[in-house]
Amino acid sequence: MKVLRIFFLVLNIFLIFSETSVQCRFLDFFTEDPSFRKLSEISLPPSPAPQAAAAYFDSTPIPRAILDVVSFGAVGDGVTDDTQAFKTAWDAACQIESATLLVPKHYTFMIQSTIFTGPCKSGLTFQIDGTVIPPDGPDSWPKANSRRQWLVFYRINDLSLQGNGVIDGKGEKWWDLPCKPHKGVNGTTLPGPCDSPVALRFFMSSNLTVKGLRIKNSPQFHFRFDKCQDVHIDSLYIKSPALSPNTDGIHIENSINVKIYNSVVYNGDDCVSIGAGSHDVDIRNITCGPSHGISIGSLGIRNSRACVSNIAVTDSVIKYSTNGVRIKTWQGGSGSVSKVTFKNIHMDTVRNPIIIDQYYCETKGCANQTSAVYISDVEYTSITGTYDVRSPPMHLACSNSIPCTNLTLSDVKLFPAQGQKMLEPFCWNAYGDLQALIVPPIYCLLEGNPLALLENSVNLC
Ligand SMILES: *[C@@H]1O[C@H](CO)[C@@H](O)[C@H](O)[C@H]1NC(C)=O
Ligand SMILES: *[C@@H]1O[C@H](CO)[C@@H](O)[C@H](O)[C@H]1NC(C)=O
Ligand SMILES: *[C@@H]1O[C@H](CO)[C@@H](O)[C@H](O)[C@H]1NC(C)=O
Ligand SMILES: *[C@@H]1O[C@H](CO)[C@@H](O)[C@H](O)[C@H]1NC(C)=O
Ligand SMILES: *[C@@H]1O[C@H](CO)[C@@H](O)[C@H](O)[C@H]1NC(C)=O
Repeated sequence: MKVLRIFFLVLNIFLIFSETSVQCRFLDFFTEDPSFRKLSEISLPPSPAPQAAAAYFDSTPIPRAILDVVSFGAVGDGVTDDTQAFKTAWDAACQIESATLLVPKHYTFMIQSTIFTGPCKSGLTFQIDGTVIPPDGPDSWPKANSRRQWLVFYRINDLSLQGNGVIDGKGEKWWDLPCKPHKGVNGTTLPGPCDSPVALRFFMSSNLTVKGLRIKNSPQFHFRFDKCQDVHIDSLYIKSPALSPNTDGIHIENSINVKIYNSVVYNGDDCVSIGAGSHDVDIRNITCGPSHGISIGSLGIRNSRACVSNIAVTDSVIKYSTNGVRIKTWQGGSGSVSKVTFKNIHMDTVRNPIIIDQYYCETKGCANQTSAVYISDVEYTSITGTYDVRSPPMHLACSNSIPCTNLTLSDVKLFPAQGQKMLEPFCWNAYGDLQALIVPPIYCLLEGNPLALLENSVNLC
């Protein structure tokens, strides 16, 4: 009873401050729902009540309110639709300072496509210790729900998504849609609706921490961060089959100050992809592969303008991947990619360990265009290991009209994974400097800085 009384004290206090709509929903839940008696299962730490603690014992940490989704009616048998319980629990946790929304272990919760919306009180923790799954494949996906996203976090500042649990995107049936490459009859690719949901999308949010979770088999990208700021990703384990289409591990766009540390990604597309409008991205201690490597791009699609700067990838391993570190742009784009560092990266049997591709084209016959995204100030330092001999270890294909400038290679040593034959690096319109030892030697890099040529044609950011 004591716990119950404390809970009502907290409830009263926050109801005074919360918005009417939330109030109504919240009160309805507790007064009309038969699970009313489960109230006491919302576990609060023993007294003193949070506010009292804050007022009287400044040095005492404020106890966290823990809201368990099971107390809000979630069943967790992997079949029952637990979406409403998650939403109600979210709305409640969102209104309490430093609350923890708990997804307990030993349960599997089936959740429909959901938008968890803020703003919330600060210090919210979404603790996933159990398993969370979506409906199984396109046929089970409700017609009214978006097919482009599953779990969305929108307009939230200061959220930590963490835990030892698993987010299983159940992507198999999406990957086999006839519209996906080679999935039609006899290996054809057929037209038709192809939208597949991103597993976790963060949109217009800031001060986010995502750590510890295992995320597997997303129907599409595993993570997408769009218009976010101050993001810290740590210790994630992302896994999908090498042949799963479009399953990028972590995709970032229009986001600033993103840190991705100590994580492992095995998947069927880019390990990390960095899209337009991304600045100050720091990637450290990542292991990728099989994958398509770490990519800046693709940028400049359909003559768009893209600006990307201050990107660092360090102390990482890329193995059994089609690319290592890549910058890819479409012809006809504008803007620039600058201040990029790839440092201390080990390659193991990677097909294109170092690649700039300014002729990126997903369909056949992209027309030649004069406008291009300008690439400059890219540093490759201590890139070592082996390359798959089907293509040369360095491929610097810059735009015909706008060269890449100030590419710096230092201590790059790449050996064939099969046989002894070294393949010659490829360059086109690439300017820069060589420092320290480069293996295989690269003779095609042009010296100097042709900036004078550029002044009129480059549309800088
Ligand atoms: C698929 O290939 C088989 C064997 O080549 C052929 O008999 C069959 O007609 C093809 N099916 C379609 C739909 O093209
Ligand atoms: C960001 O998050 C940290 C850790 O949760 C917190 O200490 C800090 O106050 C937050 N900053 C803002 C602006 O919310
Ligand atoms: C690198 O990340 C792995 C997890 O992928 C972790 O086990 C290891 O301790 C990290 N190394 C450092 C130096 O932090
Ligand atoms: C584009 O330019 C290249 C090199 O100048 C040329 O070989 C190619 O045929 C051109 N492609 C088209 C579609 O015009
Ligand atoms: C070349 O790029 C490096 C960073 O990669 C930068 O420190 C340096 O200032 C650039 N040099 C010029 C001449 O812009």
